[in-house]
Amino acid sequence: MKKEIMITLNGEEIRADVEPQWTLLYFLREILGLTGTKEGCGYGECGACTVIVDGKAVNSCLYPIFEADGKKIVTIEGLATESGGLHPLQKAFVDNGAVQCGYCTPGMIMSAKALLDAKPQPTEEEIKDAIAGNFCRCTGYVTIIDAIKAFGKGR
Ligand code: FES
Ligand code: FES
Repeated sequence: MKKEIMITLNGEEIRADVEPQWTLLYFLREILGLTGTKEGCGYGECGACTVIVDGKAVNSCLYPIFEADGKKIVTIEGLATESGGLHPLQKAFVDNGAVQCGYCTPGMIMSAKALLDAKPQPTEEEIKDAIAGNFCRCTGYVTIIDAIKAFGKGR
């Protein structure tokens, strides 16, 4: 049976009727058309679907949509500047060669963003912990860690 939820998504309040079996990932991609959040494994292993809920990075493929009610959610689309340009953290990924196929990148950036919001200049260990649940099959992680470090240092 459908239920109405209210969420703040990328700074905008939205209400929607949702089905209990939907995940947050399904709602974002299939109902709202926000396809920046990726589906990889679909069962909590790869991190491609990471979004920020009330300040914490979560796997949206495992997150029941009913639990999102009343929460603040940020997706990769919410990072763009007002003119639609790249967020400085996205730019740091590009500048450091941390993007190849790009499939892991939205999830990786949202995990990094949650960390950097809580800890503006994280250590390498903290960065590794924050992205431990995000798999990248292309870059080998070194450039991703460099990008996150460079963003932390640059502000
Ligand atoms: S798609 Fe959610 S963790 Fe892989
Ligand atoms: S850039 Fe291709 S999986 Fe990470």
